[in-house]
Amino acid sequence: MSTSKISQIIGAEKEKSEHIHKPHFNLEALVNSGKNTTTTQQQTMKKHNYSAGPCILPQEVFEKSAQAILDFNNSGLSLLEISHRSKDFVAVMEEARALVLELLGLEGKGYQALFLAGGASLEFLMVPYNLMKENGKAAYLDTGTWASGAIKEAKYFGETVVVASSKEQNYNHIPTNYTIPSDANYFHCTSNNTIFGTQMKSFPDTNIPVVCDMSSDIFSRVLDFSKFDLIYAGAQKNMGPAGTTLVVVKEEILSKTGRYIPSMLDYEKHIKAESMYNTPPVFPIYASLLTLQWLKNLGGIRAIEKINNAKANLLYSEIDRNPLFKGAANVEDRSNMNATFLLNDESHTELFDKMWKEAGISGLPGHRSVGGYRASMYNALPLESVQVLVNVMKELENKI
Ligand SMILES: Cc1ncc(COP(=O)(O)O)c(C=O)c1O
Repeated sequence: MSTSKISQIIGAEKEKSEHIHKPHFNLEALVNSGKNTTTTQQQTMKKHNYSAGPCILPQEVFEKSAQAILDFNNSGLSLLEISHRSKDFVAVMEEARALVLELLGLEGKGYQALFLAGGASLEFLMVPYNLMKENGKAAYLDTGTWASGAIKEAKYFGETVVVASSKEQNYNHIPTNYTIPSDANYFHCTSNNTIFGTQMKSFPDTNIPVVCDMSSDIFSRVLDFSKFDLIYAGAQKNMGPAGTTLVVVKEEILSKTGRYIPSMLDYEKHIKAESMYNTPPVFPIYASLLTLQWLKNLGGIRAIEKINNAKANLLYSEIDRNPLFKGAANVEDRSNMNATFLLNDESHTELFDKMWKEAGISGLPGHRSVGGYRASMYNALPLESVQVLVNVMKELENKI
C-alpha cells in the first residue's frame, strides 16, 4: 500500500475517531512514530518489538499502569495494595467488562465478559467442562499447536471429532470443505494460529454453538462477533499483560451439560460473582482496561483494523517481492498478526540476524516448529517498526 493511501486512511480514521470521542491519544503519532522524534512513542520506545506474546503494548498503558502501582487514582495507595472489593477496583472491573462488550459490538445481546486466571490453556478444559454434555460430543478444527492442545483436553470429557486438520502440511493453511456434525454440543476453532502464521478469514455457518480461541487476534479486525457463542483469549497479545484471560460467553448456552462443574471452573459461578468469585488478577485487569480505553480512543476495532492491514500489506509485499525471502503460510490464509517467513538460502541467516538486531528489532526468530522468522504485528506495534524491518530486508538484498 502506498504511503499516500495509508495517510488517507489515517486521515479518515482520525477525523472519524475525533468526531466520536475526543481522543487523548494521537493516531498519527502511533503510525508515524519514528518519523517524528518528538512523539511519546518514539521518545521511550527502545526496540521494535516483534515478540509473539507477551508483547508490545501501547506506551501510555505502560506509563499509566506504572503510575497506578505508585499511587492509584490519587488515593495514596498502590493498585497492588487495595482490596479487589474496594469501590475503586470494582469500578475498574465493571468498566473493563462493559468496554469489552462495547468494542466487540455485543452489548445487550445476552453476553457476559469475564476476566479469569489460568491462561487460554485453562479454557481448553473449561470449555468442555461447561459445554460438553455427559456422553456428549464436540467438534474441533485442528489448525495448529494451540488447537491441538484444546483437542487433547476435550478428549477427557467425551467424544471429540476433529472435523479437519492441516497437521500433515505442518499447519501451513486453514482447512476448508469440512462437515460439522449437527449433533455435536459445540464447534471449536482457533481464529489465529500464532505459531504458524495462519488466520481464519471466514467462519463456518452452523446451527451449534461456536467457540473460538481468539488469543492472538482479538480486537484486531472487524468480525460479526455475535456469530460466536463463546470467545476466549489470553490477555498477553492485544489486550494486556499475561495473567488474565478474557472469556466472552452467551449466557444461554450454559447450564446444559448435566455434569458437576467445580466452582472455579464454572462460568456461571463467575458470572454470578461478576468476575470476582475469588481475588482476580488486579494488575493485568487494570492494564487491560487501559489498553481497551486506548483502543476506544483510537476509534475502536474499525480504526485499528486499517492500521493492521497497512502493516501486514507492507511486510507481505516485501516478503513476496524480495527474492531472498519466502512466506511460510499459504498466501490466502496469511495472518495479519503473525507473519511467518523464511530465507530461501539459510547461509544468509547470520548476516540477516546481525542486521535486524543492529536496527533495534527484537523478538523476530520463528517458533522452532516453523523455523525462520515470525513478525508479530499486534495492535500496539507502530507501522514505523514494520518499515524498519522492511528496510533491513531491502538492505540485505542490496548487500548480496
Ligand atoms: C492461539 C493461542 N491459544 C492459546 C495460547 C495459550 O495461552 P496461555 O499461555 O495464556 O495459556 C496461546 C499462546 O500463545 C495462543 O497463541
